Amino acid sequence: MVSLNVNGTTHSVDVDDDTPLLWAIRDNIGLTGTKFGCGVAQCGACTVYIDGQPLRSCVTPVSAVGTSEITTIEGLAGKEADAVQAAWIARDVPQCGYCQSGQVMSAIALLKENRKPTDRDIDLAMNGNICRCATYVRIRAAIHDAARALEI
Ligand code: FES
Ligand code: FES
Repeated sequence: MVSLNVNGTTHSVDVDDDTPLLWAIRDNIGLTGTKFGCGVAQCGACTVYIDGQPLRSCVTPVSAVGTSEITTIEGLAGKEADAVQAAWIARDVPQCGYCQSGQVMSAIALLKENRKPTDRDIDLAMNGNICRCATYVRIRAAIHDAARALEI
């Protein structure tokens, strides 16, 4: 049994210590916004925050999380999250949508650290989030829009 603090709620989860956090979040806790893409830390679909820092939950065993605060796409809140959500909707960013929760998690993490990212900053920060629908141009534009909104 492992105790996980997800989006402010403590969950007791009956899994082995080496179970990837992604499966505990999706299958045991029932939060399915975080996606399985590659399973080998290459695509970013499974991105969550651990104590505010983005992390690939597909390669993180539950035993490594301890008492850290886990935030999933369902638990996002705050001005950066609001700005990114509004920009994503306005730019109609998603196509199939599968990668998008990971994209949004990474975009918010970027804007928390860098309020005025350049194209290069965005490309570097989002480099690990793969989109098979190639929504990269809209993602970049939406991040610029969100950054401008956060200036106001
Ligand atoms: S599913 Fe974790 S990085 Fe691809
Ligand atoms: S929107 Fe389809 S994979 Fe990114």
